[in-house]
Amino acid sequence: MKTYRIAPSILSADFARLGDEVRSVIDAGADWIHFDVMDNHYVPNLTIGPTVCEAIRKHAVKADGTKVPIDVHLMVEPVDALAQAFAKAGADMISFHAEASRHVDRTIQLINAEGCKAGLVFNPAASLDVLDWELDKLDHVLVMSVNPGFGGQAFIASALRKIEAIRKRIDASGRDVRLEVDGGIKVDNIRAAADAGCDTFVAGSAIFGAADYRTVIDAMRARLAD
Ligand code: DX5
Ligand code: ZN
Repeated sequence: MKTYRIAPSILSADFARLGDEVRSVIDAGADWIHFDVMDNHYVPNLTIGPTVCEAIRKHAVKADGTKVPIDVHLMVEPVDALAQAFAKAGADMISFHAEASRHVDRTIQLINAEGCKAGLVFNPAASLDVLDWELDKLDHVLVMSVNPGFGGQAFIASALRKIEAIRKRIDASGRDVRLEVDGGIKVDNIRAAADAGCDTFVAGSAIFGAADYRTVIDAMRARLAD
């Protein structure tokens, strides 16, 4: 099993102070910055674009100067042009929903050609069939444990079965693929997601909704270490 990673979603940050929020959550122990892109078409909400990614790139560094990966989660349709724009705007990894791309394999190739790691995202009701053909080309798989579009929703329990099924596929492949969960992750359920097979955890409202980000991130790590 890989080292656990915690990826705070800036969707729940204070957008008026985004650079400071990114620095604060990194100082509090964030491993990645999760960047939710919504287009009011694939999902019923509208968030932030490549210009904002470019603006926060310089803030996504640790105190010692180490770069912190920006994990872009595209909830957009179509995918390709925006994936390329985010790569140019400083994204390190880019994931997209298979049903939002007409040519999934081509989109993965485009992301890789831009020098970024590619991931596929599965909604709560999505089938995993595409992994039969694409798992060997992915850096990460992202399981939605809420329906995409909003922060602060409740964790959907069937995501645990989906995580278990993907974990089996990753282990059988023998490849180095991260398994990330996104939606409704809190201190009290992070361990269940890890036990099902996740190694990377997105959390928005649980972290940015707290007065002290470090307390929450430390509590999550403590549950993972139990
Ligand atoms: C939902 C987004 C999530 C969301 C998570 O569409 O993809 O990343 O911000 O927020 P919480 O942790 O509040 O469910
Ligand atoms: Zn997300």
